[in-house]
Amino acid sequence: MKFIFIYLFLSWFVLSALAQQINYHQHIAPIIRTHCLRCHHPAGIAPFSLETFEDVASRGGFVQYVTSTRYMPPFKADNTFQHYKNENLLSDLEIEKITQWVAAGKPAGKRIKASHPEVADEHQKSLVVSAPVQSDLRIGMRNTFHMPEMQKEEFRYFHLPLQNKEEKFIQTIRFIPGNKKLVHHSRLMIDTTGAIAGINGISESDTSIYQYQTKPLADPFLFGWVPGNDEISFPKGTGKRLHAGSDFILNMHYAPTPVPAKDSSSIQLTYVDAPIIREVITLTLKEDQISNLPFIIPANKIPTFYMRTLPLEEDVSFISVMPHMHLLGKKFKAFAITPAGDVIPLVNIPEWDFNWQMTYVFKKFLKVPKGSIIYAEGQYDNTRNNPKNPSNPPIDVTYGWGTKDEMMNLIIYYVKYQVGDEDIPL
Ligand code: HEC
Repeated sequence: MKFIFIYLFLSWFVLSALAQQINYHQHIAPIIRTHCLRCHHPAGIAPFSLETFEDVASRGGFVQYVTSTRYMPPFKADNTFQHYKNENLLSDLEIEKITQWVAAGKPAGKRIKASHPEVADEHQKSLVVSAPVQSDLRIGMRNTFHMPEMQKEEFRYFHLPLQNKEEKFIQTIRFIPGNKKLVHHSRLMIDTTGAIAGINGISESDTSIYQYQTKPLADPFLFGWVPGNDEISFPKGTGKRLHAGSDFILNMHYAPTPVPAKDSSSIQLTYVDAPIIREVITLTLKEDQISNLPFIIPANKIPTFYMRTLPLEEDVSFISVMPHMHLLGKKFKAFAITPAGDVIPLVNIPEWDFNWQMTYVFKKFLKVPKGSIIYAEGQYDNTRNNPKNPSNPPIDVTYGWGTKDEMMNLIIYYVKYQVGDEDIPL
């Protein structure tokens, strides 16, 4: 009799301990929902979905590996330097929970009601982007583009004709890749001169491209798309000016393809709907602002280059920053120094990753006062130790658009400062 009691007590004890044990529905699902589903849903850009228990459990070890190494979620900026609206990083505790769950044999636990209570606040909801927004305009390549078999990556240019009658302000821009296997990244530009009409899939290595490059573009860097950076939405009441008579140019970066492939990519825009519109201006730091020129990255060297602007002529409110380098990029850091000597951190990328170049949006408008200077420093690793180095043995590299060349840019979106901006969440 005594033994039966002990047995019953022990079973109860073990069962209740198990019930409290780490499990999927209670502990892991909320992490996946907040940090992964944005890309890992059935129509998302990631190669597989992580929507269900089975999806995650069947890849448990892999999920544990990519999270503990911080390879996923892909977010490269250091959040001890500056915080962002679109920050997506796991805490140490969240990583620990995933590790424990896998070690415990990936128990499912009890399913929690279908509503998503964890995705309560707006910011987290915004991370679970799935359906495209209602658009005012969708405009695609004129014809499906046929890409022959290609051993190497290719940059191609397309003319997306718009010729709008009146001036508009763009609120959101979304890029919709046609062939997700082929499209590596893309860049959207605005032309108001008509000089690029007729450009339709021409390669950047085709010298006839120069006939299209006779006049400066109205906006040479409207939006840069990489997987995970699907859309830019300017803060309420602000927008990018689209002059009457504009056309878009899409610069597509295609991955190598062992077989002929097709692509038909498009963009979606919404326009600002507000009585008073604040114009979003782009400030681009470029290679000619490097203070230790020439911009040459010698083979087997790890040089750092420094860029700086002239003092700002007025008070401004920064919206976002987007650094840009190619495959030799190693580190990138940018900050502003005010006339009073204060440092305003902008972005720090301790381990540059060419595949994950993002627009980092500040949590609130970031006021940068008149007279401030923007500084940026970029380090490049042109040794064999850089696994992404496209040349082996390394060769001297300098400026160019091709991925084997290098670039150094910082693209900043801002508006003119208005009192109270620093309290407005973006
Ligand atoms: C911004 C979009 C995005 C987010 C957010 C994201 N992933 Fe991914 N993930 C991708 C893409 C794209 C790939 C495929 C390319 C690659 O492996 O780099 C990928 C690949 C993976 C892989 C396979 C890695 C490999 O080497 O093949 C795993 C596992 C993974 N993700 C898990 C996760 C988990 C877990 C989270 C959340 C904690 C997450 N991902 C968040 C886009 C994302």
